[in-house]
Amino acid sequence: AEPQLEAEFEAIVGHKDRIEPRDWMPEAYRKTLIRQVAQHAHSEIIGMQPEGNWIGRAPSLRRKAILLAKVQDEAGHGLYLYSAAETLGTSRNELTELLIAGKQKYSSIFNYPTLSYTDVGTIGWLVDGAAICNQVPLCRTSFGPYGRAMIRICKEESFHQRQGFELLMTMMRGTQEQRDMVQESVNRFWWPALMMFGPPDDASPNTEQSMAWGIKTHTNDELRQKFVDMSVPQAEALGVTFPDPELKWNAERGHYDFGTPDWDEFWDVVKGNGPCNAQRLAHRKRAWDEGAWVREAALAFAAKESKENHA
Ligand code: ACO
Repeated sequence: AEPQLEAEFEAIVGHKDRIEPRDWMPEAYRKTLIRQVAQHAHSEIIGMQPEGNWIGRAPSLRRKAILLAKVQDEAGHGLYLYSAAETLGTSRNELTELLIAGKQKYSSIFNYPTLSYTDVGTIGWLVDGAAICNQVPLCRTSFGPYGRAMIRICKEESFHQRQGFELLMTMMRGTQEQRDMVQESVNRFWWPALMMFGPPDDASPNTEQSMAWGIKTHTNDELRQKFVDMSVPQAEALGVTFPDPELKWNAERGHYDFGTPDWDEFWDVVKGNGPCNAQRLAHRKRAWDEGAWVREAALAFAAKESKENHA
């Protein structure tokens, strides 16, 4: 029956229809999806840390409420994504254990520090902006639960991007010192934001197969270019520049040309040697260990309830 099932799978993917959890799928497809969705979920959860760093020090009650809501949204995104991964036959506990053991990845961007409150605005604008660029096409990814989770996540990410831009715009209308803070923050985050899209296409081992399966619908370089094209006019509106002397409109291509990210730095961060990797994982592990009693209590309560219901 396998060739028949495989032909059905190929037909669904070929028509850009959805594969659902109960459908037959090649083991390698399942494995790739678990890898990507788990990494994505871990990124949302680890991504709470850099911004969470400023909740207690936000400059006003209004800014604190916004930041708190935003960080809570990221937790929600992590949970939708772990649920999508669970439909592939894995569990959130299992995936979290793999993350903590350093056997699964999360986005490189969250291994950079947030040195000033301004970074909250820059992360919203550039990091969530890059996330949207990458994730809007994923709303049409071939695995149903992943694509449907993306729809809501993208709506919330758009709000996050706007709040970041608005925060920076407010600072740009302030004093020279505030404007300098915005530029300094943008200088630090620009290149790491470009690295979020992954290695260049000729160094991306997964892209070709993931595109053939409809998991990815664009290459890393295509999305990076789209992000640069989208960000330059926004930087002009804000009154900041990007730290790239090669950034220039190319009328022939109809796109901005831009310089090459430091790929040695990227791989170093991916391998665990970025400025904050150790700190981020240690914090995640501490939270996981300290939450063990809550998970145990919830399980014991559920077991008791089901026993009573069956009595
Ligand atoms: N950070 C950490 N690791 C990365 C990154 C990154 N920015 N980009 C690529 N990698 C890793 C890949 O995971 C892969 O390693 P693996 O095979 O051990 O998993 C390796 O580098 C080679 O990369 P690719 O072959 O290009 O991998 P892939 O096809 O999975 O493409 C991409 C990477 C574009 C990140 C893809 O997985 C994706 O679109 N993921 C969903 C989006 C996502 O995870 N966003 C999270 C950050 S944004 C946010 O949540 C706010």
